Order: sequence, then structure tokens, then C-alpha cells
Amino acid sequence: MNIGKLQNTKKNNNRVELTFEKSKIYLEVITENIVRVLNPCWKEDYESIAIEKDKSVDTDFNFEFKSGKVCLTTSSLKLEIGDNFTFTFIDKNGIELLTTYSGERKLRQTLSEKSKKLLEAEGHDVADENKDYKVQVLFKRFGDEYFYGMGDKTGFLNKNGYKYENWNSDIPQLHHENMPALYKSIPYVMVKKRSGQPFGLFFDNTFHSYMDFSKESSDYYYYGADNGNLDFYFMIGDKLPDIVEEYSYLTGRAPMPQLWTLGYHQCRWGYESAEDIRRIAHKMRENKIPCESVQYDIDYMEGYRVFTWDEENYEPKGELIKELSKDGFKAVCIIDPGVKKDEGYFCYDEGVEKDFFAKDTDGEIYVNEVWPGDAVYPDFGRKEVRDWWGENHKRLANMGMQGIWNDMNEPASFRGPLPLDVQFHIGDRLTDHSEVHNVYGHFMSKATFEGMKKITGKRPLVITRACYAGTQKYSAVWTGDNQSVWSHLRMLIPQLCNLGMSGFTIAGTDIGGFGGDSNPELLSRWIEAAAFCTFFRNHCAKGQIMQEPWEFGNKTVDIYRKYVELHYRFLPYIYDLLRISQETGAPVMRPLVYSYENDPNTYELNDEFLVGDNILVAPVVEQGATKRMVYLPEGTWVDYWTKERISGGQYIIADAPLDVLPMYIREGSITPMYAPVQYVGEKKYDTLELLIAGDTAYGTHYQDNGEDYKYLDGEYNMYSFKYADGKLETTMEHEGYERYDDIKVVRI
Ligand code: GLC
Repeated sequence: MNIGKLQNTKKNNNRVELTFEKSKIYLEVITENIVRVLNPCWKEDYESIAIEKDKSVDTDFNFEFKSGKVCLTTSSLKLEIGDNFTFTFIDKNGIELLTTYSGERKLRQTLSEKSKKLLEAEGHDVADENKDYKVQVLFKRFGDEYFYGMGDKTGFLNKNGYKYENWNSDIPQLHHENMPALYKSIPYVMVKKRSGQPFGLFFDNTFHSYMDFSKESSDYYYYGADNGNLDFYFMIGDKLPDIVEEYSYLTGRAPMPQLWTLGYHQCRWGYESAEDIRRIAHKMRENKIPCESVQYDIDYMEGYRVFTWDEENYEPKGELIKELSKDGFKAVCIIDPGVKKDEGYFCYDEGVEKDFFAKDTDGEIYVNEVWPGDAVYPDFGRKEVRDWWGENHKRLANMGMQGIWNDMNEPASFRGPLPLDVQFHIGDRLTDHSEVHNVYGHFMSKATFEGMKKITGKRPLVITRACYAGTQKYSAVWTGDNQSVWSHLRMLIPQLCNLGMSGFTIAGTDIGGFGGDSNPELLSRWIEAAAFCTFFRNHCAKGQIMQEPWEFGNKTVDIYRKYVELHYRFLPYIYDLLRISQETGAPVMRPLVYSYENDPNTYELNDEFLVGDNILVAPVVEQGATKRMVYLPEGTWVDYWTKERISGGQYIIADAPLDVLPMYIREGSITPMYAPVQYVGEKKYDTLELLIAGDTAYGTHYQDNGEDYKYLDGEYNMYSFKYADGKLETTMEHEGYERYDDIKVVRI
């Protein structure tokens, strides 16, 4: 960065101002492990959207400016800065972790017009992002880095060799391995080097940005953005979980969900009438497949007008919801941001009257097209717009709607993308689409969460497709329009593991695939791979063959039921992990490297994962396979099905006929389980089962009413268990809720 010599410095509490010849740079010591670096090339007083409160704590640090160099030291890290803003972060053992690259980018040769034409003629995409960015920083590649995080990006667990963009994109086409962007923008990467401590980088900039992990050159990796500041947080830790903890400390953690929301959901776009929904709900019960909701996709609305109900096809308001609730079904419906441009429709009229919709530069309300035809876009960055949107949910909640699924909030548009200069706000500040695009889904989810929380008093279920870093505080996510292909089944493992390490502990994929036709084998393997997902829903698109398990015959129904039941057995464990996640940000579904980072065999394991610390899951993700290689890390692992004890630190060949999901329990662990039910609330959970692996084992368990916020006032139990010499010892770490009648030991 050509900003000249470092001339002087000023320290003010935890903030240090560095004056270079041409620019200022600010350093902020947030904690001993987190330093913010801000080059305000756009705006000095930028208020973060991802990080909502001041997270800095009083921290001792040393600061020196000597011979033209700055050196900032906390108890965990050292940062050296020189002229032209060259800098190096060093760990406490003196190992350089991150340092600016001093050379130029090796841009590719630009295509000649002739070559472009030729490529275009055959249908190649010749759009070429081959330029230096307005905001740009290059980091030297030491060569031993592994890159994790980045949210929902496609490809493998380790992002090495890929370039990604942060620009929320509605992609109905096949999500292939090297897709630059999908629906979510989470500019956060964790870097693990073979030497030195792991670290994280969060680039807090909502404009279109780019992250290249040595795709362009093995000499460097880089971050670039079209606008905004260079504003990043460097986070250091002894191990990867520390980085996740720090990142989630900054951007927030997923709040406790209601227990039922973690159960199974069935969906299709479209179940086109009340009769369809009722039939599917009954079939779920007839087939004894546990199920919480049959979700309402866009067809339930009157002409795709949000917050309305089509009484002709979906029966009088609230009746179907009430009827199905008698059989334990909860209602969840989709809400899109696009409001139909239609005079006389309350939502449009109110929004116009209150001046709540985004405008073009001439001051006219901006119109594009989504499901209802011409549609306008609420200006969600304004609090009053969010409050209004939130309150509108009363119309649904009063009918009994309990969960809201936010879609198309990239925002999607059918008549070409929204121009970058469409006028939006962030708070009171007028800005445009180029800044708001990546946080549009974030603000919409926030509006939905806060509205539903106020209306129902319960922990809201919000599911969103588009989001930014920090949206996990308001919403669960799903990975959008995947397809019924094996590559998408395979991809769900790295995708959900990376989402989990990027703060999104409640996440899932459309089981069976959204687009394309599923088949018995694929659906069976998918329900197995998804059995521990925190958002657990089968969903598919109009025009595809039906995707409910009974469409594929009895054998598929049996396998499907087996794994939905397995999910319900481990529901208390998943719930426990989410409780822990509130404290530490630890993901539920985690790659092996997260827990075994000293073992290089785990660094690029794309096809197996851990659920918490206790369970290792190795789904079959290859068509036709009935055996697979499984890597077991150190320790002893117990095959869940055969009870065989296997030493870790080795690859094994697991038997996996179509109805078997290879899974292993860590010896020495205690895992809480419930007997499966048809839905949460069917019976009181009065018995806890403990799966005890080994002769000596330890575990904990959290219990509350699974619904509201009383746990924050102490209405919960925290148990800790020790099993030794054939006896279970239970200690109540906290007692504030009705205890189980019985705790049963199940030995494995
Ligand atoms: C989008 C969503 C999909 C939904 C459909 C209709 O494609 O990703 O889940 O079913 O819109 O609402």
C-alpha cells in the first residue's frame, strides 16, 4: 500500500493512530487476542453491522514507535508495522503468521477482443475480474497454510487454491465446486499453519469483496473489495476452537432455539393447497416418521402478497394450522422481501405512505420483479422499517404460525440485478445498494427475529437464505437451491462444517436435493448424512418428482424412519451442544481438524465430521458404495452399530450397506439421548438415557423447557455425570427446573 513513510503515532486508551505521509491507520486492541486494523480509505466512523456492541475490554499492551517502526505487543501477539503500511503479526513463540506481501499481483494476460469473441461464440463466460481492487491487501504465502471458514462457499473444507467473492447471489443453477459466490457473505477465514498458532481474519466490509487463497499465485493470498474500508480483525489462539470463540465473541452466537425446531421438517414447493399439506402431514404420521412441520412455501399467499393467506386454496385463516396442531404439527411459512406493487394491498400502501421502500436516484420507488410480478423492496436497514416488518408478522402469528422462513433476500430480482445505485439506508444514513446488498438478508432476518420474539415471547425460529457475518444472532440458515446429485450430497459436509465454524451452528441443506429428481439410494444416503443436522428438512422444487420417502418404496421409508428416529434419539445431545455453543461458539457439526488439529490426517478430511466431541460420523456419499474408508483420530472409538472397539490414529474400512451410516462413539464419553417420539411435545420427556462408552466416562447435560426465555432467569438444570466401577454418579451443577423421573444407563 503506497501510503508513504510512517511519521508519527498517537495512543488513546486501546486505540492507536498511525500517521503515514498519505493516510492514517488505526489499530484497536479489542482483547489480548484480537486486534482490529482499520484503514479508513472510505469512512473513519464506520459502524459495524456484524459486531453490534463495543467488544473491547481493558487490555494491557505495549506500544513502541522506534526507528520508523511500530511494534504493538499484547500477552498473545506482536504486530510490527513499517512504512507503506507493511505489517507482520507474530505469535508468542516468535513465528511469523501473517505478513504483507511486498510484490505486485500477477494479473493474468488480458484477453484480446478476438479471443473474447471466440470464447463467447461457444458460450463461455468471459466476465473477467482481472484487476487490482480499490481496497486490496496481499499476504505472503508461507506455504504451510490451510484455510477454513468463509460460510457457505462451495468446494472443499480447505479453501486453498480457490478464489471466492462475497456478493450474495441467488443461484438456481447447479452449485459447482468452484462457484465464486452463493447466498451468504461471511468474509471470515481461519488460517492454520503447520508451524505457529492458528489465527483468524474477519474483513468487516459489506461491499462486493474478493478473497483469493493462492489461486492466482502460490506466493500470496489476498483480500480485495470494490469499496469501503480495509477493516479487519486479526484473532489469535492456541487452537482452532479459540479462533471460533473469538470470532463468535465479536459477531455473536446463535441463541437457544426451541427444541421442536431442531426436529424434522417436510417441505415442497409446492404443496399447492390445504389438502396437499393435510395429506402429507397424515402420511408422515401413518408412516411413523417423526415430523414437526409441513412447511408453507409461497403458494399459501394470495397472489404471492406477503402477509396474506389464500383462503380459497388454503381454507379459512388459521383453521388448517389449528387442525394440524392437534396432531403435533407446528406451522412454518415462507416470507420473501419483495412486496407486490399493488394499490389497495395493505402492505404496499402502508409502505408507500410511510416511505419505507428503496428508491432509485430520481426519488421514485424502485421496482423490479419477483414472484408476485412487479415488486418493491423494503429498506430494512432502517429501524422503523424493521419494526413495521416485524409487527406485520402478527397477521401470521395470530393464525398460529410459529416459524418464519426468509427467502429471496439476496435480494433476488427477475428483471436483472438491482442497480448498484438504488437508494437504501443504514440507520439514518442514506447509502446505496452496493453497500447494502450483502446485509439485506441480515436486516430482514433481524426484523423477523425481533418481531416474532416480541409477538410470541418464545425463541423465534427464523431461517434465512441470504445473510452476512453476525446474522447467526437472528437466524438459522439453509444452503439454498441445491440439487439431487451426488456431488451436492458430498458437498454438504464441508459446507456445513465451514458454516458451523463461521458462527452458523444451526444450518442444514435441502435433504434429497431441491432441484432435479432424487432417487431411493440418494435420498437414503442423504437422510443418513443429514441425521445430525441442526436444521433438518426435506425440500424440493416444483416440477421434480415427489420427494417424500414413501414415493420411493418401503425400503426407503424404513431407512428414512431409522435415521429420522436416530436424529430424535440424539436431540438432547444436539440441544446440549447448542447450549455450549452459546458460551463458546463451538459448532455442533465440526470437521475433525477442529478437534484434532495436531493430526495432519484431519486437515483435508472432506467426507466425515464430528458431532460435538462424542460422535464421529462418516456418511457414504458415493453412489453404489457399500464400504468406505474412515479415519479415526486418536483415542478409542466404539462402532455405534456393532459395538466393536477400534483404536484411533488409523484408517479403517467400514461396512456400510444402504441402511447403515457409519458412526462411532468416543470411548470415555457420556451422550444424552431420548426415546424417539412422533414430534416434540407428544410425550413428556421424563426419562433421560445416557449412552455410556467405556468403563469410565464423563458427560454433562442441560435441560430447560425448550421454548421460552425462562432459562435466562435460572429455570434450567445442568447435570454432570461420572460413570465408574459400574455406577453412575450425578451432580446437579445447577437446579432450577423439574428433574427427569428417571435416568437410564445404556452401555456401549
Ligand atoms: C427459492 C428457494 C426455495 C423455495 C422457492 C419458492 O428457490 O430457495 O427454497 O422453495 O424459492 O419459494
